[in-house]
Amino acid sequence: MNEILLRITQLSAEITNALNNAQTEHELEQVRLKYLTRSAELAQLLAGLKDLDSEQKRVVGPQLNQIRDQVFRLYDECKKQLQDKIYQAAQKRKELFDVTAYNPGVLHGSLHPYTIVNQKLEDVFLSMGYTIVDGQELEDEWHNFDVLNIPADHPARDLQDTLWLELPQKLMRTHTSNMQVRVMQKQKPPLAMLCSGRAFRYEATDATHDYVFWQTEGLLVNTDISMAHLLATIKVFLQAVFEREDLAISVRPTYFPFVEPGIEVHMSCVFCKNGCKVCKYTGYIEIVGAGMVHPNVLTACGVDPKSYSGFAFGFGLTRLVMLKYGINDIRLLTGGNLEFLTQF
Ligand code: FA5
Repeated sequence: MNEILLRITQLSAEITNALNNAQTEHELEQVRLKYLTRSAELAQLLAGLKDLDSEQKRVVGPQLNQIRDQVFRLYDECKKQLQDKIYQAAQKRKELFDVTAYNPGVLHGSLHPYTIVNQKLEDVFLSMGYTIVDGQELEDEWHNFDVLNIPADHPARDLQDTLWLELPQKLMRTHTSNMQVRVMQKQKPPLAMLCSGRAFRYEATDATHDYVFWQTEGLLVNTDISMAHLLATIKVFLQAVFEREDLAISVRPTYFPFVEPGIEVHMSCVFCKNGCKVCKYTGYIEIVGAGMVHPNVLTACGVDPKSYSGFAFGFGLTRLVMLKYGINDIRLLTGGNLEFLTQF
């Protein structure tokens, strides 16, 4: 019996010593694995109690149980102390953390090319007295089509494949022209607004088409507004975006139900002087759809076409960005590829 008691005393000292010397959570865990598991010597001694005679049990039992309680309590204390130490060290590091310190490993963000070109556009139009408007993407049929002179049976609806929602007459806007209507309904002329935002079409994607893309819409309504104002405005902003004063525009008639007359504005090719693949060897690139706001649209929006006239234009901001930066695939713009995006 004396041997067991001696061993219990030695073991107690050994475990206490090991626990007190553990400096890290890892070291403490090693002590636990060595002394405090079910297969460790202490547990074996406790399990062996049942084989002792009653006199031995009476002496050894309480001692063993007391030591077990002591070392487990000490283990819990040591663990808590170590955790406190780790917490305090982390707090100290936080206090000393210098938010202004330069970290060469940090990846710096850059503006998306849409943002860069859009900011440029907004600067130009703000300098001309326009208001910048934010538009809604979820739209109703009436604002997207009907008021814009595109009734349900009008073949022009087929030109813009629509993403219809499961809500009655609700859709994702197919163009930013809905904002012409919303602005005219809210504000009486004179008014001038620019709105960039996403448009949605139920289309297959390829290098120049996506089902979500950006458009920019401009609208100016006042007395005596003419096609000359429209052309001058378009020329000024194209020259500013492409930073080319020699940039020329050419105009061709076309059809949009909400303008009359409707025009297509082409700009001189920014890539060549004598013809290239981008301009299909014509020297000009089609860039903006525009025209004088149709009297039906003015009337439907509560503006008297006898007193006021206006122009509207709309273009693919996506296309403008691609031309400005020579991007040959529209999908790069939304692909989230950092190698591509950090070039700007
Ligand atoms: C319109 O959407 C008219 N609302 C523009 C307008 C506004 C005309 C005001 C007159 C007055 P269109 O459907 O042509 O027109 O689209 C305009 C531009 O959006 C196109 O020239 C093209 O650059 C861009 N676009 C159209 N569909 C896609 C697409 N799927 N992917 C990328 N860009 C597109």
